Amino acid sequence: MEIDLSVDLGSLNLANPVLTASGTFGYAQEFSEFVNLNRLGGVVTKSITRYPRPGNPPHRIVEVSCGMLNSIGLANVGVDAFIREKMPFLRTLQCRKIVNIAGECIEDYVAVLEKLASVEEDIDAYEVNLSCPNVKEGGRTFGKDPEQVFKMTRALRQMTGKPLIVKLTPNVSDIGELGKAAEEGGADILSAVNTFVGLAVDVERRRPILGTVTGGFSGPAIKPLALAKVWELRQAVDLPIIGIGGIFRANDVLEFLLVGASAVQVGTANFVDPSISEKIVDELEQSCRRMGISRIRDLIGALETT
Ligand SMILES: Cc1cc2nc3c(=O)[nH]c(=O)nc-3n(C[C@H](O)[C@H](O)[C@H](O)COP(=O)(O)O)c2cc1C
Repeated sequence: MEIDLSVDLGSLNLANPVLTASGTFGYAQEFSEFVNLNRLGGVVTKSITRYPRPGNPPHRIVEVSCGMLNSIGLANVGVDAFIREKMPFLRTLQCRKIVNIAGECIEDYVAVLEKLASVEEDIDAYEVNLSCPNVKEGGRTFGKDPEQVFKMTRALRQMTGKPLIVKLTPNVSDIGELGKAAEEGGADILSAVNTFVGLAVDVERRRPILGTVTGGFSGPAIKPLALAKVWELRQAVDLPIIGIGGIFRANDVLEFLLVGASAVQVGTANFVDPSISEKIVDELEQSCRRMGISRIRDLIGALETT
């Protein structure tokens, strides 16, 4: 049986639903010796900012039970070096190339998109990381405030015709409200979720392990939480959703598709096995064959709850 793994997220068509998650896959080239990148639905870059960022002081990563905590602090080369040094490799890929952007105020995000316009023909979509403090508005995370989500989305929407993916934080009581704000602002796609806030303690030293005290919690432990957030979003908006959180196996992907995601991103799993994203694509094909599913898209939102 021929298995069709392709999915459409509005105008963004993927050969299969497996993307890599921002910040866990570098600028893709680092993984090219482990993964046939063209076998993936696409790659998402590390968050790119207006200026280079060294990131937070150590420790920036710690393994905890069933996951990891990170406080990388958006370390990246900055948009100019990204265009100069990273785009030449990305340009050679046939899979979808999604550039994730971040900043400290709306003007930062706008400035990054303005620069990326010069290489936009080689970019398939933008993903907007809203889990950053808005330094101009008292440091509150953009993505926690529906008003700011709306304003940011609308500002970026006016700058590009490329698919705009708004990546939502799960650290709110009503993620549906954020999804609606992004939809009203003109987003094409939502991705959910970014990391949950977490803390790990070194008991002997009576100190937090991470230099920033709290950090972002990711990995297998968050999968049920992320699935519930995607489910909530599915009830709130009509936009296609990319599900993210604790995906290690094809079966995890199928869970996200059933609750309403049209595609997924694989994050923390890349740290455990750098070739896992490609293995998941292979395994997805086998799972569909075993279940007698010829078109994976037929599973999207097919969860039966009654
Ligand atoms: C080390 C690390 C760095 C990350 N950096 C970014 C980033 O720069 N931008 C972003 O939008 N998300 C970032 N994330 C969040 C992931 O893209 C993803 O949303 C999250 O880890 C949940 O998926 P997972 O459980 O599969 O890892 C990072 C995650 C980790 C573990």
